[in-house]
Amino acid sequence: MDLSLIYIFFLVLSISSVESCILQNEMQIHIINRLPPNSPQLKLHCASKGNDLGERLPAIDEDINWSVCEGFFFNEVYFCKFWWGTKEKGLQVYNDPFYCVEDSDDYNHVDNCKWEVRKDGFYLQQTNHTDGSYYMYHYLDWS
Ligand SMILES: *[C@@H]1O[C@H](CO)[C@@H](O)[C@H](O)[C@H]1NC(C)=O
Ligand SMILES: *[C@@H]1O[C@H](CO)[C@@H](O)[C@H](O)[C@H]1NC(C)=O
Repeated sequence: MDLSLIYIFFLVLSISSVESCILQNEMQIHIINRLPPNSPQLKLHCASKGNDLGERLPAIDEDINWSVCEGFFFNEVYFCKFWWGTKEKGLQVYNDPFYCVEDSDDYNHVDNCKWEVRKDGFYLQQTNHTDGSYYMYHYLDWS
């Protein structure tokens, strides 16, 4: 096959991956503020290479959510920085289209990436294989 045809094929693919999402609206990221009431205001800032969600100040129990647009290479990554009082933490909240994060608790397919920010850290919702229920997995501490 002519090499330039292969080149054009990949060029078209990469252009379409910029403009269309293969998994659009399939995976939603949720970040829920579950910090104690009357504690400092949580601030967060999430972004991927092509999408900056800006600084957000969620109230207690407020759900910050957005859809992930995955292109052809399934290489979308969302990083969030969190501030709470004197604490701060940065983490990837999305780097895998099936498990949200590659190093999640279990080999779990999830419908969406549901995170909770609590006073002892960051929790990710997981599915229990045994009975299909959900549980919150303590993924990371603040420190
Ligand atoms: C997702 O965010 C919107 C505001 O952007 C909010 O109105 C909605 O309640 C959130 N979804 C959930 C499930 O809380
Ligand atoms: C999963 O569900 C089973 C049965 O209800 C339970 O015994 C087990 O502790 C659960 N595992 C987790 C990680 O929640």
